[in-house]
Amino acid sequence: MIKSYIQENQQRFLDELFELLRIPSISADASFKYEVHKAAEYIQEKLIAAGADNVQLFPTPGFPIVYGEKIIDPKLPTVLVYGHYDVQPAVPLELWDSPPFEPEIRKTAIHPEGAIFARGACDDKGQVYMHVKAFEYMMAKHQMHCNVKFMIEGEEEVGSSNLGSFCIANKELLKADVVLISDTSMIANDVPSIDSGLRGLSYVEVEVTGPNRDLHSGVYGGAVANPINILAKMIASMHDENNHITIPGFYDAVQELTANERAELNKAPFELDAYQKDLEIDAVWGEKGYNTLERTGIRPTLDCNGIWGGYTGEGSKTVLPSKAFAKISMRLVPNQVSDEITALFKKHFESIAPAGVKVVVKPHHGGEPVVTPIDSVAYKAAEAAMETTFGKKPVPTRGGGSIPIVALFEKELGLKSVLFGFGLDSDALHSPNEHYGVFNYLKGIETIPYFFENFAKLKQ
Ligand code: BES
Ligand code: MN
Ligand code: MN
Repeated sequence: MIKSYIQENQQRFLDELFELLRIPSISADASFKYEVHKAAEYIQEKLIAAGADNVQLFPTPGFPIVYGEKIIDPKLPTVLVYGHYDVQPAVPLELWDSPPFEPEIRKTAIHPEGAIFARGACDDKGQVYMHVKAFEYMMAKHQMHCNVKFMIEGEEEVGSSNLGSFCIANKELLKADVVLISDTSMIANDVPSIDSGLRGLSYVEVEVTGPNRDLHSGVYGGAVANPINILAKMIASMHDENNHITIPGFYDAVQELTANERAELNKAPFELDAYQKDLEIDAVWGEKGYNTLERTGIRPTLDCNGIWGGYTGEGSKTVLPSKAFAKISMRLVPNQVSDEITALFKKHFESIAPAGVKVVVKPHHGGEPVVTPIDSVAYKAAEAAMETTFGKKPVPTRGGGSIPIVALFEKELGLKSVLFGFGLDSDALHSPNEHYGVFNYLKGIETIPYFFENFAKLKQ
């Protein structure tokens, strides 16, 4: 029945998502403030149209949280659907093959049936909108088997800094049995999977200052510490010859997997050749003793996300810069704690700074890693739903990305999450040419109602 509903409404489902994708809701860039609000209003309008009650925009010091609910019977289980309507910046625009906020469908090798190209197509507007349309179906065809509450935020891509206090202040409103989140990836369209964990994050910005002003690199070069040279060396020193991270204590809390868990994780199909080919690299890189799946799933990492300073304009300028900067992120695994890792980083970074420079470490947002159960009723409902629509049981995997608020749901609301993602890692999230398979979008809409039905049944 859902299948025919999708067939009949497919074009409208695409058109409505396109309209949402045309709104450049970039939360990181203050010049798009108005548009971020517009996206919230669009979700609000569509939730109302689909039949949600008590739909509201809860203001925060940042962007509003869209809330809506349908309580068909307080005695039935309640699913809290979480997602985000904000997107990452689209720059550098020149690397896009079509404008990031003018969605269009193009075929790709991985998506022969076509993929929707736009910023936010997969992360997370396309995946949020699947829930709105699945809800529309359940309402229209009287297929609501559970209560549902929607909480769609607009600050995920900038650290969800206001959602935590919203949850704490609205525990009663958000009362539910499980959180359902579509904001992660599957292994492949013919290999459905469900993430059973996400990494945490510690993010810092560093500043290295040498002389009090930019200097002539001929007059002073070689005699005064160059902050860029120093910073590059400091960053490079943070991995040893085995690509282990050298910050003292960094691995202390890391939970090693048992041989069994490791074997289980490695059951997920992974083709190194295809992986390298997709990225046009001739070798992978990483911590010795672990393979690629493990390096992104269960091991912590440290990466420089951006580095700047000195002269980067046209031509050449002979200058010994006064300052150098970098943004550095660390992905964390259980049981590392974001604030503790940030403190270890700061202490280490300050300790390796040579005489002649001053360093400042500024912490940005962070988040804790999570592991979600794969023996819960909710996981089983998700598993069975995917098995119905994909014809295959999904494999549990570990996602490399972070959704910091998931740990908070557990801590503040006492709720476990199911990471019911339908994207692919190769969908270019945060990159130019982000896209989302039309197959994935429609498959998500098809699968979600089965989750609700299964959850209601299994919960009894
Ligand atoms: N949806 C992603 C996280 C994700 C993507 C998890 C793919 C698993 C697979 C989310 O929007 C995101 O980008 N999170 C940020 C962290 C946030 C604090 C900015 C991230 O992982 O970098
Ligand atoms: Mn996301
Ligand atoms: Mn994201």
